[in-house]
Amino acid sequence: MKREGREQESRMRIAIASDHAGAGLKAELAGWLRDQKHEIDDLGTDGAASVDYPDFGYKLAAHLAAGHAERGIALCGTGIGISIALNRHPAMRCALVSEPLSAALAREHNDANVIAMGARVIGIEMAKACVTAFLTTEFGGERHARRVGKLGGVRDDLG
Ligand code: RB5
Repeated sequence: MKREGREQESRMRIAIASDHAGAGLKAELAGWLRDQKHEIDDLGTDGAASVDYPDFGYKLAAHLAAGHAERGIALCGTGIGISIALNRHPAMRCALVSEPLSAALAREHNDANVIAMGARVIGIEMAKACVTAFLTTEFGGERHARRVGKLGGVRDDLG
């Protein structure tokens, strides 16, 4: 019973978005996460028709910033374009990752609310390992909170 309760608590509402290059990996990850009883908001795209990664990065950022989901997963060919798009939103801390240590430290040190991955860079098992690390690692707080606080809001002092 206790264990079941803990599993329940770890279920999350997760939003996932990709461009055409990431759509296949998105579908695989979304099904795998649903099997774990997470609630998934799939923001598209679906299928191979060419779309523009900024549109899906901005859509995911708006969805998360509005509080519709707790965490986000972003996919494109390299993960680079969609992570750049997400990080243009001041409330997004999107980490581009390709292995689970970075995914875990993105949570522990950076309080990342999104991870981006490249579907042309990593395979499904590595992507799952990154997602697991991202979903199960807590923010470290303390000195990390001070540093993350300095990232907040729009900076107008950077020249
Ligand atoms: C689309 O061909 C590709 O440019 C995109 O998926 C991504 O890799 C961009 O960063």
